[in-house]
Amino acid sequence: MLELEVTIPAVESGSYKIKISSGYLDSLWPQIQADFNRSNKFVVTDENVVSAGHLQKLLGQRDIPTFVISPAGETSKNINTAASIIEAMEKAYLGRDTLVVALGGGTVGDIAGFAAAVFKRGVGVVQIPTTTVAQADSAIGGKTGVDSKLSKNAFGAFRHPTAVYIDAATLTTLDDREFRAGLVESVKHALIADEEYFVFLENNLDAILERKLDVLEKTAYFNCKIKGGVVAADPTEQNKRRMLNYGHTVGHSVEQASGFALLHGEAVAIGIIAAGLIEFELGMAESDRLEKIRKIFKKLGVPVTLPPNLAKDTLINTIKRDKKAINKWPRFILIDKIGQVHCEDGQWAVEVEKELVEKVLDKLCTEKK
Ligand SMILES: NC(=O)c1ccc[n+]([C@@H]2O[C@H](COP(=O)([O-])OP(=O)(O)OC[C@H]3O[C@@H](n4cnc5c(N)ncnc54)[C@H](O)[C@@H]3O)[C@@H](O)[C@H]2O)c1
Ligand SMILES: [Zn+2]
Repeated sequence: MLELEVTIPAVESGSYKIKISSGYLDSLWPQIQADFNRSNKFVVTDENVVSAGHLQKLLGQRDIPTFVISPAGETSKNINTAASIIEAMEKAYLGRDTLVVALGGGTVGDIAGFAAAVFKRGVGVVQIPTTTVAQADSAIGGKTGVDSKLSKNAFGAFRHPTAVYIDAATLTTLDDREFRAGLVESVKHALIADEEYFVFLENNLDAILERKLDVLEKTAYFNCKIKGGVVAADPTEQNKRRMLNYGHTVGHSVEQASGFALLHGEAVAIGIIAAGLIEFELGMAESDRLEKIRKIFKKLGVPVTLPPNLAKDTLINTIKRDKKAINKWPRFILIDKIGQVHCEDGQWAVEVEKELVEKVLDKLCTEKK
């Protein structure tokens, strides 16, 4: 069992534990009971996670009130689902001593975390992430939320988890495309924070794709260490936490402009290549860095060029509407070298001229595949 502790200043409980192992879902419930024996548990999951057998593994024959999100995925990540969860908790006579247990991917974690954040002004939430996205990213960091009809995560709250339990074996049932796309956030973590992790990914990608459990555990450990470290330094994203948005400015616009035909991780892969091209233009690139990144992405089977049907103007317009934009133009996270984010006057997000971004988008269309 690998174990980490994330210390969040200014949070009631101060810190939480992340436990990483594999094949322990069926023995986890007694541990949760023992760790949090004074609270009443309420499980939130989704229909696909149930079909994959994970809820059965977690609960066995125990009779625990459970909400199964259906349909699974982003379409259910809205305020109505959060309201239904809260009402189900009320119907089960649960109060402020409730502990929400989120079993699933990022959508389950975000919805359950949000419901926990607002139920009776806030109860605890335990995250048991079951996707590559959730194990690397969404389960750690305390951002929760649901979408409005107009935008993603329009309703949101910070709710740091009470604990995180990662069972790498849950990933063995995940759809291949989802599995691969989620790994892009791992590459992002390596690029912004840890060269050793980048080399580990280069050397172990085959084993990761074969879903070898010990390698998946190690990957989760690196991810949690990096994300947990950044979050602990800046829990509410005043500055340093922005570095987690590496590749996301262009990535988000590509994701939106594709009409969400591309998965988030696939769009972020293109965004990371865009960031690499910007770095190249600004003379910040090591000679073979972009090639190394491309090689990993190609092996992951995620795109490294823009899909042909995306108009550059649409992308630029979406970038202007980026939620972190100042005067209609966002700042960019760039890296000086693998494992080190570029920092200017103490700022981790820096200005990049629009013309340069346009040039890079042109290059991204014509880049050889
Ligand atoms: N809070 C954060 O910091 C943060 C960070 C990154 C992403 N997110 C959010 O996470 C969401 C995306 O998360 P996701 O990619 O995990 O999507 P998801 O939760 O929709 O899961 C993807 C699909 O896989 C299924 N699934 C999940 N686990 C499975 C398993 N072990 N076996 C078989 N099927 C399984 C789900 O039912 C779903 O159909 C987005 O809403 C995004 O905004 C949040
Ligand atoms: Zn992301």
